[in-house]
Amino acid sequence: MTARTPRLGAAAGSTVITGIGMLVTQDPDLGTLHDAALVLENGRVAWAGPSGAAPSADVAVDAAGRAVVPGFVDSHNHLVFAGNRSAEFAARMAGTPYATGGIRTTVAATRAAGDDELRTRLRTLVDQAHRQGSTTLEIKSGYGLSVPDEERSLRLAREVTPETTYLGAHVVAPGADPGEYVDLVCGPMLDACAPHAKWIDVFCERGAFDADATRAVLSAGVARGLAPRVHANQLGTGPGVQLAVEFGAASADHCTHLSDADVDALAASDTVATLLPGVEFSTRSPYPDARRLLDAGVTVAVATDCNPGSCFTSSIPFCVALAVREMRMTPAEALWAVTRGGAAALRRDDVGHLGVGSRADVVLLDAPDPVYLAYRPGVPLVAGVWKAGIPVT
Ligand code: NIG
Ligand code: FE
Repeated sequence: MTARTPRLGAAAGSTVITGIGMLVTQDPDLGTLHDAALVLENGRVAWAGPSGAAPSADVAVDAAGRAVVPGFVDSHNHLVFAGNRSAEFAARMAGTPYATGGIRTTVAATRAAGDDELRTRLRTLVDQAHRQGSTTLEIKSGYGLSVPDEERSLRLAREVTPETTYLGAHVVAPGADPGEYVDLVCGPMLDACAPHAKWIDVFCERGAFDADATRAVLSAGVARGLAPRVHANQLGTGPGVQLAVEFGAASADHCTHLSDADVDALAASDTVATLLPGVEFSTRSPYPDARRLLDAGVTVAVATDCNPGSCFTSSIPFCVALAVREMRMTPAEALWAVTRGGAAALRRDDVGHLGVGSRADVVLLDAPDPVYLAYRPGVPLVAGVWKAGIPVT
């Protein structure tokens, strides 16, 4: 960056980014512009057009021919936890399959941690995500599994994002009776968590919750004003996707093992299929078939699923590379999936694009074209990030 490079965290009234070699707005009217400029004002995109016609602003940044894309919308994260499961990961890479039981290891560490430790760890993870271009993050509870520990997980998550998800139904709490635990999730735990949550989620899977339990939890959450989303069909075929569609969920997440009926149901619905290829990478499992979903007309998002067990990456650029290489998505489809797709999975239309009036969430890439996100995997290409017009890197 040249000219008056903004200071970290400085709240500029307006910023103009000129000399953008390729500006991918993901806005249907603006499309992709070349030799372009973008004006950010009062937290919103105020103007986009030819670089030579750019109005002046308080702060000027020269993109020097590099590409600009919308801030990434990472619509699936589990960031409130303590401890780590690196030994479990190492064992997995030596042949032990992934199993849901590992979640209880993180529950024990999370319950033992104080609020300050959890908050510090959460903020470190959020900061790492910001620096990799993610400007909207959904964050779930699910490593507390008691009334006070789920409540504080969501209270802490709410400090860093409005996209908070109550996942008391992650697994049955250690030592609990399954039926009594579902009653707790639908009753006192929901009462404590609903004030801090926007969404309700269930891990609908063998080893977690079956169709009846999923239905009970989603119904209770919806009755309390929470909007549904579902962990569906990660480890095998099952009822998750059909239940997500039945409840009008914003998203069915994972979608690794789908029947033809599941694909048809998604295609006929407003439910986004959120694919999480970092999980298949980190569990050494077959990837979901993105091509099959896209060809059927399903709306596809890609997110990280950053969590200590099945996938501990917070890097959307890494997931874009996986989506292209391993899931047969084109680079353009993958970029759409981590911007507009993620926004659709959160039912947001103010983020994930750079149309005039959108939130000024912007990523400057150290590359002439966003295809480089997949073309140069593992290379730190995020050169600048603005969230609501404020630089975060
Ligand atoms: O999305 N599937 C359920 N939850 C996480 C894994 C959590 C864990 O293993 O700790 C996921 O993959
Ligand atoms: Fe998850």
